[in-house]
Amino acid sequence: MSDTAKLSLGGKDFEYPVLSGSVGPDVVDIRKLYGQTDAFTYDPGFTSTASCQSKLTYIDGDQGVLLHRGYPIGELAESSSFMEVAYLLLNGELPAKDELDKFTYTITRHTMVHEQLANFFRGFRRDAHPMAIMCGVVGALSAFYHDSTDIHDPVQRVIASHRLIAKMPTIAAMAYKYSVGQPFMYPDNSLSYTGNFLRMTFGVPAEPYEVNPVVERAMDRIFILHADHEQNASTSTVRLAGSSGANPFACIAAGIACLWGPAHGGANEAALNMLREIGTPDRIPEFIARAKDKNDPFRLMGFGHRVYKNYDPRATVMQKTVREVFDALKVSDPVFEVALRLEEMALSDDYFIEKKLFPNVDFYSGVILSAVGFPTSMFTALFALARTVGWVAQWNEMITDPDQKIGRPRQLYTGPTQRSYVPVGER
Ligand code: ACO
Repeated sequence: MSDTAKLSLGGKDFEYPVLSGSVGPDVVDIRKLYGQTDAFTYDPGFTSTASCQSKLTYIDGDQGVLLHRGYPIGELAESSSFMEVAYLLLNGELPAKDELDKFTYTITRHTMVHEQLANFFRGFRRDAHPMAIMCGVVGALSAFYHDSTDIHDPVQRVIASHRLIAKMPTIAAMAYKYSVGQPFMYPDNSLSYTGNFLRMTFGVPAEPYEVNPVVERAMDRIFILHADHEQNASTSTVRLAGSSGANPFACIAAGIACLWGPAHGGANEAALNMLREIGTPDRIPEFIARAKDKNDPFRLMGFGHRVYKNYDPRATVMQKTVREVFDALKVSDPVFEVALRLEEMALSDDYFIEKKLFPNVDFYSGVILSAVGFPTSMFTALFALARTVGWVAQWNEMITDPDQKIGRPRQLYTGPTQRSYVPVGER
C-alpha cells in the first residue's frame, strides 16, 4: 500500500500518512483532517476507526487468529496459567520461573478486601444482579485504597493493577455468597488464584472445601480465554474513562458496566438461557427461522462477532473443555447436545454462511459454568473477573502512551438550528 492516502474535498486535495503496524491492516492517520478540511469522519460503532496504538493483543477476524503479545490463544490456553497470561499482558513477556513466583505471591497477598467493604454488600437487596454489585463495589474501591489512585505515579499504578486483579475473585465470590445468603469466605493463600476463587464461591466455613483439579484447570482456562480482546466495547470504555484521568478503580467499574450488556459480556448468560429455552434438538429449526426473520428481533446468542468472520478460536477451546468438565464431574447436560446440533445446523445454513456468523466464546462457556455450579447471573461477573487483567493492562498502556489525549469523539449534528426561546404561555 502507498504511504499516503489522498482525499478530495470541496475541490481541494489532501494527503494523509498511512501507518503500518507489525501485522494487520494499515491505518490512515487522519489526525490533521479536521484542522485542514473543517470536516469530520463519520463512523458510528467505530467499525473503521483505530482509537489507539497497542502492543497487547492482535486479532485477525477473517482467519480466526487471536494473539496475546504474539502468542496464540490456543497455546496459552493449553499450556500456560491465568497468572502467567496476566503477567504477559501487563509486562510484555512471559515470566521466568522466579518472576512468576514473585508475581503470584504479590497477587495472592492482595486478595483480601478491606473489612468495611462487606458493609457495602449488605446495602444491596439479596436478589441484586452480581454485575450491579460488582459495578458498585469495584467503583467503591477508590474510596478504600487512596494510596493507589494517583495515576501519574507509576508505583501507585502497579499497586492498583495488582489490587484489582487480586480482589476481583474475592468481590465476585462475595457477590455470589450474598445472593445465596451464605457467609463470605476469606481467601486462602495456600490455594491457586483460581482454586481460591472456587473455594470462596462454593466453600462454607463449616467444612473443608476440596478443589477439583480438573474444574480448577477448566476455570483457569476460561479466565485465560477472557483475559483480553483488544479494543472491544468494555476495554474502549475503560480507556475512554481513563483518558480523563479518572482513577483506575472507577475506570474498571465503567468497564464492568459496559460488559454487562447482552451484546457483549452478557451474551454468555443469554446464550445458555436460549439453549435451555430451545430445550431439545427438534426445536432448533424454529429458532434458526426466528434468527433469520428480519421482523423478529431474536438473534442466536453466542453467534456472530464484530471482528471474527470465522470460528472464534476461543470457542474451539471452550467446546473441548465442556467434555473435560463433564467427565471430571461425571455429569451431562442435554443443553450441550442442543448446542452442538445448533452449531452444526447454523453452520450449514446459507444465512449464517453468507453473513459469516460463527459461534463465539460465549456459545459454550455457559454450558461449562453451569456444570461447575454457577448460576447464569454469575456468568458475566466471571467474565469481568478475567477481563480485569486486559482492562488494567490496556489502561496502563494508555496512561504511558505519549499520544494519549482525552477521548472526545465528534458528531454529525442533525438537530434544530438556532431558534429563539418562546415563553411557556405562548407555546
Ligand atoms: N443471529 C442472527 N443474525 C445475526 C446475528 C445472530 N447472532 N449476529 C449478526 N446477525 C446478522 C445481523 O442481523 C446483520 O444482518 P443484516 O446485514 O441483514 O442487517 C448481520 O448479521 C451483521 O450483524 P451486525 O449486528 O451488523 O454486526 P455487528 O458486528 O454490529 O454485531 C454482534 C456483532 C453484536 C456480536 C452480533 O453478532 C450479535 O448480536 N450476536 C449475538 C450476541 C452475542 O453473542 N454477543 C457476544 C459477542 S462476543 C463477546 O462480547 C465476548
